[in-house]
Amino acid sequence: MAKDNILDVAKRRGFFWPSFEIYGGCAGFFTYGPLGSLLKLRVEKMIREHYVNNERCMMIEAPVLSPEDAWVASGHVESFTDITVECQKCGEAYRADHLLEERTKKSTDGISLPQVQKMLQKNNVKCPKCNGSLDKIYDYNLMFKTFIGPGKNKISGCLRPETAQTTYMPFRRLFELARKKLPFGAIQFGRSFRNEISPRQGLVRLREFSQAEAQFFLDPKQKGSHPNFDAVKDVKLTVLTKHDQTMNKKGKVMKVSGLVKKKLTNEWIAYFLAVSVELYKNMGIDEGMLRCRQHKDDERSFYSSDTWDVEFVSKVYGKIELVGIADRTDYDLKRHEEFSKNSMAVNIDGRKFIPHVVEVAYGIDRPVYSILESCMKKDGDRVYFSFPPAVSPYQVAVFPLVRKDGLPEEARGIYDLLIDAGFYVLYDEGFIGKLYYRQDEAGTSFCLTYDYDSKKDKSVTIRNRNDQKQRRVKIKDLVGTLRGLINGQTDFEKVGKPIK
Ligand code: GLY
Repeated sequence: MAKDNILDVAKRRGFFWPSFEIYGGCAGFFTYGPLGSLLKLRVEKMIREHYVNNERCMMIEAPVLSPEDAWVASGHVESFTDITVECQKCGEAYRADHLLEERTKKSTDGISLPQVQKMLQKNNVKCPKCNGSLDKIYDYNLMFKTFIGPGKNKISGCLRPETAQTTYMPFRRLFELARKKLPFGAIQFGRSFRNEISPRQGLVRLREFSQAEAQFFLDPKQKGSHPNFDAVKDVKLTVLTKHDQTMNKKGKVMKVSGLVKKKLTNEWIAYFLAVSVELYKNMGIDEGMLRCRQHKDDERSFYSSDTWDVEFVSKVYGKIELVGIADRTDYDLKRHEEFSKNSMAVNIDGRKFIPHVVEVAYGIDRPVYSILESCMKKDGDRVYFSFPPAVSPYQVAVFPLVRKDGLPEEARGIYDLLIDAGFYVLYDEGFIGKLYYRQDEAGTSFCLTYDYDSKKDKSVTIRNRNDQKQRRVKIKDLVGTLRGLINGQTDFEKVGKPIK
């Protein structure tokens, strides 16, 4: 599937488009339109409902801008960098390691800065844009920096590159709210910012992006057993371990319990891999394109002792990290204790220690893209998104057959009824063929048409998006019927009556 198709439909139908278009655009920023905003909201809702209801996480919401001191403590000022190289002729900047990988077709994980410099020269790598010579490489910090306040007393600030630190800083308060018991979780939804070197992958690499990061604080002794592990132990996952990657092996299908038995990871990480894959499946992401990949030792972030990603293997962009699940040990809390001089230790049953953190860090924009890629279908000239009703921007659209004879008023009444019942509903008027075409591209699950017969038989026509089949349903049964269809308990073929 060509990338242009998804981007074309996404722009035309108002899912998302590049920001600041009237000023020539600015790489790494996208604006969600009416359909995209709703789709994103539904993705966030699914994650929120799981983590707040099932994992009993507290929700918190912190500022996106923090004093720079916090990021010195976290290690980001020193270590949150990419190796960069600029063209001496046109000034274009590149990730030096990516340029080298493109040229040599070999991974650069773990190679040192001087080695990258040497290899660029040895392979005579030039600027891909103008063929100019490349300058010396340097470490480039990805944080956006600014000042907080005016005048002499202003302080340096950074836009957060992850929500995580803004959940760690108030740890003491959260621990009190958790009634001084471990483990407990806290989740934060919000924007983060990374001044990426050359973002050219649409929603996949943004300079301002949305995250949902859950932090589980636990006694290191609890790491070996997750309280709900039994519920996922038989789930099968496609797994690529660090060992597989070193040996150039392909991924394999494994039970979640096997990951722990073979000591490939701990129960907490294994549990959240299974939870995340299930969430993605329910969002409509193609399960066959998902895999759980462990970070190799030389690619792991500076704060982690074991990290796994659930990746979507995109036909357009290649592997895309959707969630990173990391054992951050006591690294972050220890650093905040050291730099802030506030104790992060807890005292449980006479034992004093700094809790460890298992982080489940979801990006939001990438699943939105992965849903679009997984669900975009072509059927002759027809294009539609086969979104599951759980994420469809609109689950139902209501139309009058014509714009006269009182039909719009009656159709509006049905719209009001369905809005009151809590569905995501759209009302529209026009030529029925065009209305269906538009809703197919919006991924609306069901369309209802109020026609001239509706007054007599007190029914409407319901159309199923994926196969375009139609049935006749009594208006009094609509809410129950739609509930059944949306939660998957009712088969469309059994709804109401066939069209005469
Ligand atoms: N908090 C982990 C990440 O942003 O990648």
